[in-house]
Amino acid sequence: MKLLTYLALMSVASAIVVPNKRDLNRGKVLKLPFHKTHNDSSNAHTQDGKVLVKRQGTAGFDITNRQTFYSVDLDIGTPSQQVTVLLDTGSSDLWVTGNNNPYCTSNGGSIDCDKYGTFNKGQSSTFKDNDTTFSITYGDQSFAKGGWGQDVLSLDGVDISGVSFAVADNTDSNVGVLGIGLEQLETTTGTSGYVSDPHTYSNLPSILKQTGAIDTIAYSLYLDDAAATEGSILFGGIDSSKYTGTLYTVPLVNIYEGFSNPIALDITLQGMGVSTDDSSKTITTSQIPVLLDSGTTLTYFPSQYVQMVADAIGATYVSSGLYGMNCPSQDDDRQLVFDFGGFHIKAPLSSFLITSNGNSNVCFLGMVSQDKLPAILGDLFLTHAYIVYDLDNFEVSMAQADYTGSDENIEAIIDGVPGAVKASGYDNKWNGNQNYVSGGNIFTLNDAPAASMTSSVTVSSLTATPTAATSDDSEGSQPTCGGGDFLADLLCFLDSLFA
Ligand SMILES: *[C@@H]1O[C@H](CO)[C@@H](O)[C@H](O)[C@H]1NC(C)=O
Ligand SMILES: *[C@@H]1O[C@H](CO)[C@@H](O)[C@H](O)[C@H]1NC(C)=O
Repeated sequence: MKLLTYLALMSVASAIVVPNKRDLNRGKVLKLPFHKTHNDSSNAHTQDGKVLVKRQGTAGFDITNRQTFYSVDLDIGTPSQQVTVLLDTGSSDLWVTGNNNPYCTSNGGSIDCDKYGTFNKGQSSTFKDNDTTFSITYGDQSFAKGGWGQDVLSLDGVDISGVSFAVADNTDSNVGVLGIGLEQLETTTGTSGYVSDPHTYSNLPSILKQTGAIDTIAYSLYLDDAAATEGSILFGGIDSSKYTGTLYTVPLVNIYEGFSNPIALDITLQGMGVSTDDSSKTITTSQIPVLLDSGTTLTYFPSQYVQMVADAIGATYVSSGLYGMNCPSQDDDRQLVFDFGGFHIKAPLSSFLITSNGNSNVCFLGMVSQDKLPAILGDLFLTHAYIVYDLDNFEVSMAQADYTGSDENIEAIIDGVPGAVKASGYDNKWNGNQNYVSGGNIFTLNDAPAASMTSSVTVSSLTATPTAATSDDSEGSQPTCGGGDFLADLLCFLDSLFA
């Protein structure tokens, strides 16, 4: 694994800092590789063959939302203790599991905490306790509680000792989290639950700027293709070899009340379509706020929105937010097209379809209905895009990811993202509308296929009843499935179909 290729060297050297090619006095970039961690063996795949979720062999299903995740290694304390954490753009705090967590098997619980490591603060001579409490609950309802502190800390060899982290002595999660979102989303601000002393603190991206490791609080995330075992994050820079076409810039959208600036990495999805080599069809031009969330595997949209996509690709509602269809043939070249305001990110439909062991005719759509905003674009989408998160300027620049592995071309982000241009739809931010209608035309670009078969505008019925089964999540037509965890349900359905 630790081959001394040019890439590996760059990432170690990045520990120090890669000078910007154009200006050796200004501009620094910090490159960190991260691992794609498949949470054990799996027998479900996306239709293009990539492992997606894991199933426990016998006694029921034990599956969560985060089956494939992006992890980095931390060394904490003196002497140092190694802990692996999940890299998350959807949150802003760093925490690690404490050795005393009652959920660990070593303390009588059921989580194998040795797998990703725990931190014993009592065994570090340099640990400084902040004597303040930490508590977080994630979208998948997993939680972590504990206390804040600071210690000698390094991330893949890079010293980041000024970063506060929480030690969770009570968590039902088997892996800690490195949240790299905006400071305003930190749990210490009280925006996500009461705290006695609301404040922001310098989280990892901010500390990197403060210490002069980077010039702008910005980073680029490249997940590589779904089969790759590593991706990379470039703090303070971009690598133009990792995308094709132009980087287009869009603003973050402020979807929460009471804030003058956005607090999360939400942008406006301005429409969707389906295209093949020689045809294209717009699904919708309704706007919806989407969270770019590396800590989530699938994608989640309101049912009304998923229904439009399902209609366009021939999928029907099954249960528990899941849509299914007969798996398309191998030569089906349909792509889902995501429009962010005058530019598109495309994803082969097959990469959004989940099947079991490849022997099943039934595919499930990796777009799950969940009637909450923002919608979430998880790794299933993110893997197709090269995304630059510019936290200083509340903007995101994105382009189609390039998997060809051409030579790195890294540039620092100093006065704006190098080469990025404002998307033509930059100013069309989501305006609070939550009614989604089909139709419109997203294929007005130069790259649109000549034979555009744009559909006329039709208002989708608000009560559009899913055809395959009841839309009641709790009581589907297959009562043995539907325990609430959609991935468990998905596998349960696959099982009931092919047992
Ligand atoms: C990994 O799998 C275990 C057991 O199935 C589950 O409890 C845990 O939440 C999963 N962790 C992640 C990060 O996916
Ligand atoms: C912990 O304490 C240090 C030192 O006072 C402070 O700089 C830091 O912001 C605190 N961390 C949190 C999460 O409040």
